[in-house]
Amino acid sequence: MDLGAGRRGVDMGPSALRNAHLATHLRGLGHTVDDLGDIAVALPETLDKHMEAGLVFLDPIINACRDAAGRVAALPDGTFPLTLGGDHSVSMGTVTGNALRGNPQGVRSGLIWVDAHTDYNTPQSSPSGNIHGMPVAHLTGLGDPLLTGLGGGWHMLPEDIVMIGIRSVDARERALMQEAGILAYTMKDVDQRGITRIMDETLERLGGLERLHVSFDADALDPTVCPGVGTPVPGGLTYREGHLLMELLSESGRVTSMDIVEVNPILDTRNQTAEVMVGMAASLLGQRIM
Ligand code: ARG
Ligand code: MN
Ligand code: MN
Ligand code: MN
Repeated sequence: MDLGAGRRGVDMGPSALRNAHLATHLRGLGHTVDDLGDIAVALPETLDKHMEAGLVFLDPIINACRDAAGRVAALPDGTFPLTLGGDHSVSMGTVTGNALRGNPQGVRSGLIWVDAHTDYNTPQSSPSGNIHGMPVAHLTGLGDPLLTGLGGGWHMLPEDIVMIGIRSVDARERALMQEAGILAYTMKDVDQRGITRIMDETLERLGGLERLHVSFDADALDPTVCPGVGTPVPGGLTYREGHLLMELLSESGRVTSMDIVEVNPILDTRNQTAEVMVGMAASLLGQRIM
């Protein structure tokens, strides 16, 4: 879906990723791949676009997130859910679904949020009303009760979240992040300390957790690497930093699920962004050079 984003087009992200041979690449790594198809979502042109309590397209987004959460939660043991967006609001569903797998109360889980943005707005703090800027806040229980209620009583703990690649945070969003105490590695941290140290610290911080979900927003990478995104911010992760991040996570053997989101084929150059993101998934899921 693209209902959570300010511009059209990321609803075509899954097609672009399939066209970039995602399944073929993963099968080449020895995985069995089952494509479960799309979740049906209404087109914005068929809906009345209005803001209700600071949220644009709330109802259809809740439905899509519920559907995503239910489908992910129902997957059998031993499968690795890789979900394709779509705008980043879908991660409220996927992160919740992964925590609820095999346990209706939800399991304490870690979240590695790779993004230019912290996506920690509430309907009150958001400058745009776009729900893709709000998923992490809602996962931690802040914001609209319908969206915070997706997991029943389950919520993410702020200390179980680590963000990487951050370089665009709204003023009121920053205050909420600080209040919650969420650890965010900005691009300055990446420049100064490097991905290797950041990943060591991240895996240490999330040490005791059995489930780790990686939510990868294509706009974390520099717009020269991933031009097909709706909210590009200069100064992002390089191609190698992105891969190193995925390679270190792969080596850790601890990641249990992943999202790829915010790929916008309308704004892309010859499907480059989808191809790069397929490479990122392949790195996380075991691509070895030698
Ligand atoms: N912070 C801005 C907002 O709340 C931009 C969010 C961009 N989020 C994303 N998933 N691309 O509208
Ligand atoms: Mn290919
Ligand atoms: Mn982003
Ligand atoms: Mn995002």
